[in-house]
Amino acid sequence: MRRTLLIGIAILMVSCGKGDWKDATDPAADRAKALLKEMTLEEKVGQMCQYVAPCYVPPGQGSPYKNIDATDENLGNKDLADKIRRGEVGSFLHCMTTKEAIALQDLAKESRLGIPLLIGIDAIHGNALIEGCTIYPTSINLASTFDPELVESIGAETALEMRQKGLYWTFAPNLDVARDARWGRMGETFGEDPFLVSEMGKYSIWGLQGRDRNFDQGHVIACAKHLIAGGEPFGGLNAAPMDLSERQLREIYLPPFVSAIKDAHVGTVMAAHNEVNGIPCHGNSWLLKDLLRDELGFDGFVVSDWMDIERLNAMHHWAPDSTEAFVRSVEAGIDMHMQGDNYFEAVIGAVKSGRIPMKRIDEAAGKILEMKFAVGLFEAPLPSLAPLENAEAHRQTALDAARESIVLLKNNGVLPLFRNGGVASSGGSTASLREAPPLASQSEAPVPPLNVPRVAVVSPSGLTTSANPGNSERSDAGSLRGTPLSPPGGRRGVDGSRQRTLFVVGPNADSQTILGDWAAPQPDSLVITVLEGIRNEFLGAKIDTLCFGGMIANIDAKGIEAARRKAASADICIVVAGENSQRYSAFGRSCGENCDRDDLDLPGMQQELLEAVASAGKPTVLVLMTGRANSLAWAKENVDAILNVWEPGQMGGQAVAEVLSGKVNPSGKLPVTMPRSVGQVPTVYNHKHSQYSRLFATNETGPLWPFGFGLSYSHFVYSKPSMSSGQPSGPGRVHPRSAVAEYGLSPEAAPERSEESGLPEPALDALTTVSINVTNEGPYDGAEVVQLYVRDEYASVTRPVKELKAFKRVFLKAGESAEVTFAITPEMLQCFGADNRWSVEPGEFTILIGSSSADQDLQKLSLTID
Ligand code: BGC
Repeated sequence: MRRTLLIGIAILMVSCGKGDWKDATDPAADRAKALLKEMTLEEKVGQMCQYVAPCYVPPGQGSPYKNIDATDENLGNKDLADKIRRGEVGSFLHCMTTKEAIALQDLAKESRLGIPLLIGIDAIHGNALIEGCTIYPTSINLASTFDPELVESIGAETALEMRQKGLYWTFAPNLDVARDARWGRMGETFGEDPFLVSEMGKYSIWGLQGRDRNFDQGHVIACAKHLIAGGEPFGGLNAAPMDLSERQLREIYLPPFVSAIKDAHVGTVMAAHNEVNGIPCHGNSWLLKDLLRDELGFDGFVVSDWMDIERLNAMHHWAPDSTEAFVRSVEAGIDMHMQGDNYFEAVIGAVKSGRIPMKRIDEAAGKILEMKFAVGLFEAPLPSLAPLENAEAHRQTALDAARESIVLLKNNGVLPLFRNGGVASSGGSTASLREAPPLASQSEAPVPPLNVPRVAVVSPSGLTTSANPGNSERSDAGSLRGTPLSPPGGRRGVDGSRQRTLFVVGPNADSQTILGDWAAPQPDSLVITVLEGIRNEFLGAKIDTLCFGGMIANIDAKGIEAARRKAASADICIVVAGENSQRYSAFGRSCGENCDRDDLDLPGMQQELLEAVASAGKPTVLVLMTGRANSLAWAKENVDAILNVWEPGQMGGQAVAEVLSGKVNPSGKLPVTMPRSVGQVPTVYNHKHSQYSRLFATNETGPLWPFGFGLSYSHFVYSKPSMSSGQPSGPGRVHPRSAVAEYGLSPEAAPERSEESGLPEPALDALTTVSINVTNEGPYDGAEVVQLYVRDEYASVTRPVKELKAFKRVFLKAGESAEVTFAITPEMLQCFGADNRWSVEPGEFTILIGSSSADQDLQKLSLTID
């Protein structure tokens, strides 16, 4: 009682004195400065300390769902409660329940200044670590949509769901450029291409934070991670070293961070586990100060990755002990320590001994406080216990995203299934996704309330066909001409005259693997598995199953024999196989964080299973559910169709079934190259010319499927591209307005800055434009992703064979055409030249435009820069 009274008096004194930090109308930076003046060294360093929420890892067990409630009495680390009260903790991560968030904030209120805690979480694809929140498809799915606006919507919805739970900071987006499929985190990224990752990352941050970091009531702080270059570690192993040239760093790995900072004003950055050129990122002052702060102008705060400061000693053997590691990390530019004890004491000690200047602590704590003010934490720290709002609408977005993200890799005509009728489907036309009228008008079945049996609208065919019945689609070889959708006479066993049997088999057919990594187990009622989706979609069919309890490891010879028998008596076999990234899964992970592999084949006995099913001679579809690019050479040759669905989230099963039935026309494109075998890794589309000047002796050299590739049930025909009249006059036309827009520089400062720094030149006026007409000549409505690549023919340094520089997703009704125009800016033509500067070097450029990165899918135009 006495204690509360004293705290009350203290707060009153502060607010009556120079307490203008309490004035919510003041700018966040001013409030932070004012508050800093009130704080002791201990309180400032306290802001730099983050702990994992005590209930997250209760003693002796792993599941976040069996946890005790966090209250003062049962905090796992008793001293933690006192630390909070003393103002020695600034942040928590992974509060899994609202009750716990409230309990922790209540403790923070008892501290001298009552500074609220910033609670962060890995909301990578929705606030998916929290039960009941919307689980969107994973980032690699979202990259496959080539639909940045969709990513922005998902960011905004995720932010809303986070705030409702009292979570104001997400460790997302992951901006790693993933160039080695052995690395288990590919599914958490936007793929292998720097431009695609930059675009998706920027829109994601816009969604999460609001444009211009204008956090209003509905937004949260984003975190660009991991700085830098962890996406191509030696041997594919997470946290392994990176040794790379400055050119590779600036051209491949840095662009997403430049965009996150310059365009999207991301509030926080997380350092990477790995070392770069011999210096671990967590102790790398060139990276964290010279590059991040001075060159890129980052003005938020830098958080360490989970206990990676300690690893400067324990893993990298770079700092002789953890105390030295803590001190070096602060000196290098890390502002907040993610999780654990001893950091606080080490930093205080280093300040007192004069090694760390007070100015550095003010800078770190000041940035953290500024973000807390900016996001509105001081005004509304407490979550609401009310159920999530907008859940239904958000699930609709998750469904739309899953539909857009599915990549059809092969189709010899078996898909869409039963298009000639005979199986009752839930009706509707070919979904035209977001570009089309709302879903309800297409299928009469928007997102069904989960847990409620769906009522089917029976129709003989789920497809809308145009006046072009039986028309062709593209072949999987990527030609623009296409192959027949259904061979004359129909496929084996696919006639409309009787009830058909669908055999759905595989460990991923009916499990929460569909949610991907960074998702907690959910009540089954909130997840539509592929099997459930198929059951709902193909109401008239007999569904036979063999799902191995959702465990890859459960597949054995006996099970494989059973699958062969069942396949023999089915009409269509759907094998749902791939990987398992679920971090809380008892089912045996093969993918996700710290699940790296030394081969890319289907793990366990899934290959044998697939071969056994296909050997029954029935049309066989492989539904690949995976968090990485797998090698599927056998499947490409031997199964009838392959759908790469990645990890499509809680609504994924419905989306997959709709694509199988043809209610949805697939439109996803690969954001990574699919290798033929692990021996091809690293394999990326934007390689150098010399990469394949020699071929592999015993196997084919090219990828199985190229970056940007994906089939449709329709086919899209491209006209000859054209360039706007007049050749560009050269790159010298720096327009100050664009420079300001890109880099927030004053017009006068812009040219100077780009002269001297290693930054890419600011966006400049278009030199010319390129246009192309795309016509949907297939029988179905659908979306196509028009891709534009640039090749710099000769430069002072060797250049990639092509680089993605623009893309546009267009929706076209059957028979419809659209003109797509891209501006060609100097920014697209720049390279980091032999003089270690960005510039457009005069000479020949080739503009390539078409439906994938494969040469046969692209048409060329030449551009000369004098
Ligand atoms: C991951 C980070 C993540 C952090 C907190 C680390 O292991 O590398 O991406 O944000 O854990 O969960």
